[in-house]
Amino acid sequence: MSKLNRSVWAEVSLDNIAHNVRQFRSWIGPNCELMAVVKANGYGHGALETAYTMIAHGTNWLAVALPEEGVRLRRGGITAPILVLGAVGADELDVCVAADLAVTVFEPHIARLLSAAAVTQQKLARVHIKVDTGMGRLGLLPQDFVNLVELVKSLPGLEIQGVFTHFAQAEQMDLSYTYWQWERFQAVREELRARGIAIPYVHAANTPATMFFPASHLDLVRVGLGIYGMYPDARRPFELRPALNLKTKVAFVKRVPAGSSVSYNSTYVTAKETSLAVLPIGYADGLSRGLSNRGHVIIRGTFCPIVGNVTMDHTMVDVGDLPCVIGDEVILLGTDGNLEIQAHHWANLLGTINYEITCMLSSRIERVYL
Ligand SMILES: Cc1ncc(COP(=O)(O)O)c(C=O)c1O
Repeated sequence: MSKLNRSVWAEVSLDNIAHNVRQFRSWIGPNCELMAVVKANGYGHGALETAYTMIAHGTNWLAVALPEEGVRLRRGGITAPILVLGAVGADELDVCVAADLAVTVFEPHIARLLSAAAVTQQKLARVHIKVDTGMGRLGLLPQDFVNLVELVKSLPGLEIQGVFTHFAQAEQMDLSYTYWQWERFQAVREELRARGIAIPYVHAANTPATMFFPASHLDLVRVGLGIYGMYPDARRPFELRPALNLKTKVAFVKRVPAGSSVSYNSTYVTAKETSLAVLPIGYADGLSRGLSNRGHVIIRGTFCPIVGNVTMDHTMVDVGDLPCVIGDEVILLGTDGNLEIQAHHWANLLGTINYEITCMLSSRIERVYL
């Protein structure tokens, strides 16, 4: 454990990351490669620190959203193939070529500029061409796809390493939209086959598709959420272990009488004499203000409610008659015996998804790797 600068920290279990990678590896079988999605600082877990573990346990590829995220991995010594999933700007192409980052391409202009950058650097630029089968985000429509593939094939300095698509609702119980996207993707693959174009890596599946639609595994799966031990919904096709615990220490405790108002706007007033614990964490750390008067923390093996409005740097909890003292450990995300608070619990309270919860944890929170 590294030295802590502040009494708020996120413990990231590399053992649990390794476990999750092994679970996905055995789920997808030996003929499918695993691409771990480590964008947004590894969904808040730390991209580089977790990437070493992922690779050591059978991850073949990494994916990022931004070229600079890929460059950071390269600087950290990562030699595995890296795919930039996001839209790369014209002024970022040189960096991608220099750092051997595969680029997602979905329009001719960027393809031409990337080719020019590769020729200038006398290197090969690897390209994954993206088709939008129904996500409505990046990717060109199926009817335009094969023409772009032909163009990229004709440009010097480019190698088509993959073609891919992305599912919009693979976490739904009703997979009919996913099947529809799949059919459109199959048609694209058919057309490539008919033109005699062989593509080394054809891919589509994110975490939910990997779990709930195994036919979509193809040559590789792009897994983010699940690698960090979170599930897309309540189904548990195999066991994953949450990799992140968020903790702090009680900064101050005071006994207050009935009728005491707590925090801005006095949204909580104590009904009886009680003890309030002040936690040195607030919305600037990623503890959403939406958890005011709704969320709980665990102190001394007991759920304690967050009371009053969460403030920028501090949050109050009503600890009742617990013998709570300054310095007591507080679990905001994690488990203690049978008690558990996970990202999806916060997500339910906040009307969002677990993806957002760990991404929200700000850079003020030190990540400690166990
Ligand atoms: C194109 C693409 N592929 C894969 C993923 C990984 O998704 P998940 O975290 O559900 O595995 C993402 C994440 O948003 C993505 O944008």
